[in-house]
Amino acid sequence: MAGIFDGLCAEIAAIPVLTRIGRVQELARGTLRVAGLSAVAALGDRVAVRTAVGVIGGEIVRLARDGVTVLPDQSPEGARIGDLVEMLGETRIAPDDSWVGRILDPYGQPLDGRPLFRGTQPRPLRAPAPAAAERRRLGARLATGSAVFDTFLPLVRGQRIGLFAGSGVGKSTLLARFAQHVEADVVVIALIGERGRELREFTERTLGPHGMARSVIVTATSDQSALTRRRCAWTAMAVAEHFRDQGLHVLLLADSITRFAEAHREVALAAGEEGNLRGFPPSTSHTIMALAERAGPGPEGAGDITAIFTVLVAGSDMEEPVADILRGVLDGHVVMDRRIAERGRFPAVDVLRSVSRSLPEAASDAENNLLADARRLLGAYDRVEPMVQAGLYATGSDPVVDRAIRVWPLLDRFLAELSPEGIHNSFARLAQSLE
Ligand SMILES: Nc1ncnc2c1ncn2[C@@H]1O[C@H](COP(=O)(O)OP(=O)(O)OP(=O)(O)O)[C@@H](O)[C@H]1O
Ligand SMILES: [Mg+2]
Repeated sequence: MAGIFDGLCAEIAAIPVLTRIGRVQELARGTLRVAGLSAVAALGDRVAVRTAVGVIGGEIVRLARDGVTVLPDQSPEGARIGDLVEMLGETRIAPDDSWVGRILDPYGQPLDGRPLFRGTQPRPLRAPAPAAAERRRLGARLATGSAVFDTFLPLVRGQRIGLFAGSGVGKSTLLARFAQHVEADVVVIALIGERGRELREFTERTLGPHGMARSVIVTATSDQSALTRRRCAWTAMAVAEHFRDQGLHVLLLADSITRFAEAHREVALAAGEEGNLRGFPPSTSHTIMALAERAGPGPEGAGDITAIFTVLVAGSDMEEPVADILRGVLDGHVVMDRRIAERGRFPAVDVLRSVSRSLPEAASDAENNLLADARRLLGAYDRVEPMVQAGLYATGSDPVVDRAIRVWPLLDRFLAELSPEGIHNSFARLAQSLE
């Protein structure tokens, strides 16, 4: 019985004995200036603004000696000068093992209509990453359930990779495939800034009961405040850290980092920062990197967080700020191409433009040779494809190209395959398609 009350006791213990109160001094440009909290507030603390028409949540985004700036969760309609602002304090969340299989919002409230237990240990949303010197190295290769990732783009335990693609090219569908098939103890999925109707579609259709059974979904839809959307990524990471600290292997899937960065931009601009990185404020870089660094191999005694982050790139603009920042902290990037999706091959991974930094270590010599051969053939086909399509290539001109043209249909089919039988089977099938 004691276990049931542990969460409640922890929550009661966390209630501050003294409530600190400030007052609204000024309302301008969507933010509130509040007097009386400067001495006690810290950046990122939560507050509740008590207006005549209801309570509005908010976060402290700027501090000054004579007042703090609060960004409210919603439009501060109805707020007046002099309204009371109550300090709620540091933003923490207490994940619990029973959250597996559940859907929650970034504040830890259930979104699936059933009560949710809270854990006994509140964790900071913006926890530091494990110290670099204490972290293990990347771990063993993981079976992914997809032929292309089992072979050309291996995923190892603790690796962080990015999926870069335009809209509608199949990022979310591929993430769901990972959630269903990649070897992991728990999957944590952050759905940041998606359209509202997509949540049900994703959980019920794309992910399905099998994927859902080992997943925790944290979601904030596009109509929610920038604070809530940004917080979604941090909450998901804190949930992943909860399981990692128990020694488990967590697969963290974040869709998308672009929406996270956009939410951060909104918050930072409201706090007075300037947008100078093609519209993004300078703190964007640190914010993205600090998030990504929290994933990865854990310290001795803990588990690992293997992470896959999606990034929306317009066209194939890999220099776009969010893509550029994120690439610096990743151990691999996967580029998905609209033209491949349009001809109906899913996942629409452009193998030639994608890399996994776990190679060559993650594969044997024989496997690396096979991959080099296959890449050479894909490259040769890629170069002559327009000529082949136009009927301008004369068979016999180049033996490598001849072979590339012959094996290409098999290779292309291989890249779309599911691989329920594991990595060795995927390599065997790749070897077959090159014969
Ligand atoms: N494996 C697949 N098999 C068949 N069709 C697919 C597959 N993956 C994606 N598609 C098609 O592509 C469409 C878009 O996929 P998805 O929603 O995963 O893309 P997205 O990149 O996440 O899009 P957005 O940028 O809007 O979030 C799907 O509705 C489906 O028609
Ligand atoms: Mg999507």
